[in-house]
Amino acid sequence: MYCLRIWGSTVLHHVTILFFFLLYSVEISAWLPDTATKIIHDIKQISTITFLGNNSFPNHFTVLNQDANSIILGGRNTVYNLSIYDFTERKEKRLKWFSSDAHTQICQLKGKSEDDCQNYIRILVPLSTERLLVCGTNSYKPYCRHYTTLNDEYVTEKEFSGVGICPFNPEYNNTAVQSNDQIFTATIADFSERDPVIYREPQRTELSDLKQLNAPNFVSSMPYDNYIFFFFRETAVEYLNCGKIIYSRVARVCQNDKGGPHQFGDRWTSFLKARLNCSLPGEYPFYFDEIQSTTSIIEGRYGSNLSQQIVYGTLTTPNNAIGGSAICAYSMKDIIRVFQGSFKHQESINANWLPVPKQKVPEPRPGQCVNDSRILPESVVNFAKTHSLMEEAVPALFNQPILVRVSLQYRFTAITVDPQVQTVSNDVFDVLYVGTDNGKVLKVVNIPNENGANAVVISENTVFSHNTPVRELKIAPGYGRVVVVSSNEVKLATFNHCASVDHCQSCVALQDPHCAWDTQQLACVSLDAVSTLRRSLIQDVSHGNTRKCSPIANNKIPTGVYDDNILENEILIDNKIEDPSPKPNNEEVECDDGVTENRITGCAVRQHLVIYTAKTLHVIVVCASLVALFLGFIAGYLFSRRFHPYAHYPNAPFIEQHNHLERLSGNPNGFLTPRANKTVNLVLNVPPSPAPKKDNLETKDLNIASDGTLQKIKKTYI
Ligand SMILES: *[C@@H]1O[C@H](CO)[C@@H](O)[C@H](O)[C@H]1NC(C)=O
Ligand SMILES: *[C@@H]1O[C@H](CO)[C@@H](O)[C@H](O)[C@H]1NC(C)=O
Ligand SMILES: *[C@@H]1O[C@H](CO)[C@@H](O)[C@H](O)[C@H]1NC(C)=O
Repeated sequence: MYCLRIWGSTVLHHVTILFFFLLYSVEISAWLPDTATKIIHDIKQISTITFLGNNSFPNHFTVLNQDANSIILGGRNTVYNLSIYDFTERKEKRLKWFSSDAHTQICQLKGKSEDDCQNYIRILVPLSTERLLVCGTNSYKPYCRHYTTLNDEYVTEKEFSGVGICPFNPEYNNTAVQSNDQIFTATIADFSERDPVIYREPQRTELSDLKQLNAPNFVSSMPYDNYIFFFFRETAVEYLNCGKIIYSRVARVCQNDKGGPHQFGDRWTSFLKARLNCSLPGEYPFYFDEIQSTTSIIEGRYGSNLSQQIVYGTLTTPNNAIGGSAICAYSMKDIIRVFQGSFKHQESINANWLPVPKQKVPEPRPGQCVNDSRILPESVVNFAKTHSLMEEAVPALFNQPILVRVSLQYRFTAITVDPQVQTVSNDVFDVLYVGTDNGKVLKVVNIPNENGANAVVISENTVFSHNTPVRELKIAPGYGRVVVVSSNEVKLATFNHCASVDHCQSCVALQDPHCAWDTQQLACVSLDAVSTLRRSLIQDVSHGNTRKCSPIANNKIPTGVYDDNILENEILIDNKIEDPSPKPNNEEVECDDGVTENRITGCAVRQHLVIYTAKTLHVIVVCASLVALFLGFIAGYLFSRRFHPYAHYPNAPFIEQHNHLERLSGNPNGFLTPRANKTVNLVLNVPPSPAPKKDNLETKDLNIASDGTLQKIKKTYI
């Protein structure tokens, strides 16, 4: 019966998701007017340099480190050192580290494949100018080494167990950060993947305490103030309805945590976590609950005059729902504030989670950084241990995502930011790059205003073929240069589109902070290549308004600096004027394989139109499926009324099914009325035809129910 409840609630959940996507497909376009993409480039139209590593085996590439000149990649038994400028490998700096034969054999005895039983390097931290800490999965027996460099040779200084620092499985989503000569890690600390841990020798999170970490996927970690912050997603303990749901979290520990008194010496006294709220506001907010990636902490002005420190993240809907992705930004001030608020508490196993009243919180405040945590009273340490979840969720900056995409093709994965790019008129904007799970990278500019956020998608670029997911993105020097990492291929790609547009209008309408129209050269120029003569540049990142371009395209304009403020005033007076996006005078240009430079714009415009149709199509499909769903409900309901009066089935379990679903629907906040709910149940359990034979139908019915249930449960828990 419990299973039936889970099944019912999963169905309700899906129906709800469908409902809300319909509502929001309308609403999104209402409050995010410009989520269309301006340029669409396929894989042949992007300039990239590819690094393949070892072509014949899985590499599980990850970026271990990056500095002004180099990017260090971890792969299979190897650390690669590449130039960040041209991606040439410094072969003399290549570090090889194979697992010993003994470790490989034990790994294979434990049932892992030959590809698993390799040493995938996951962590590299420079300890000083010539010393390195390197850790690898070492055939499912993580090990670390200290290396020194002697005349371009790596010499092993010492070797030790990497459990708690490096994962066992090369695909596990771990994170590590160095701060004040200490290494903070979030990973899995056992072979069977039951012991996730946030660790800094010797302190760790509680062993198998689901209230601290519950099947987490770690995303990122960063030092800030006296703390280390960890971003991850995990199964939500506080979600009490049937079924399982994943929430996004930010957690923190104090850098100077020395552990608790006595037996608590190896446990954090300062571990706290909070939910991250990335949702479309409304009476029933629509949540993007699964964080996939974050940027590092950056500083800038967002909608107000105060400078703020923020983190951008990509968050998505669950895998079994329609693909919704969002970018949300979180201010560090909001995060800190939530950690100073109420703690969440559950009295007993089935009780609701409620805020802890202030008078019940011991002193000094649990989770606060103190000089010596070893002398804290045990009551405080115990409270922190049992109340690691904060009551309030961290709100997104502007209380809403800065970009939402609903797509049947992809979800967002990695994100990185080129912060505070300066424009011609000395404004600054963040340029974001967002990866997808089908090999694309979106270039997005965040244009905040007083009313909230407004992200503009400048381009959508296919970087990997065969729907290969983008795993990581890193900014490289030069406007639009980004390192794009997939499991087996790493590319240095250039998303600088200035040279591919050849009209003043198209250049300005791009709203790309990297590009401006040069009235002297009559070209769309990349601003990092322009040293002087800003006077002759036209750019309008905020509005993409092309009125400064002279009416006859490409004519020289005698005016001086382009001034955003004047334009804003003009718009206030005359706010009927719509952004005249570049009139596609090249619309008819065919997009063939041999595209010339000039024709690329033509392709872009044409594809832009296609995308628009796809979006409309999507709305139609959703509408149609909803109508079908409703018709199905009604048909099922009528049918069941006719053939399945309850009195005919004095079978106790069957009636209990109803009771359970009714109890579910007894919740006055439920999305479905009890009547509609009954319909759900009947439609699901009753075979539509033929007319029932009374004797054997009861058992048949139950079989179907339990079959369906079993499948559903498997789906949820595996
Ligand atoms: C990578 O190579 C560069 C240039 O030789 C060197 O300066 C840097 O220290 C190397 N990085 C590592 C981690 O070996
Ligand atoms: C790591 O994260 C990726 C992207 O969200 C996900 O597809 C993958 O399943 C995760 N890995 C594990 C071992 O859970
Ligand atoms: C998340 O934010 C939305 C929009 O501000 C708000 O309506 C909702 O109540 C918040 N949810 C939680 C769990 O705090």
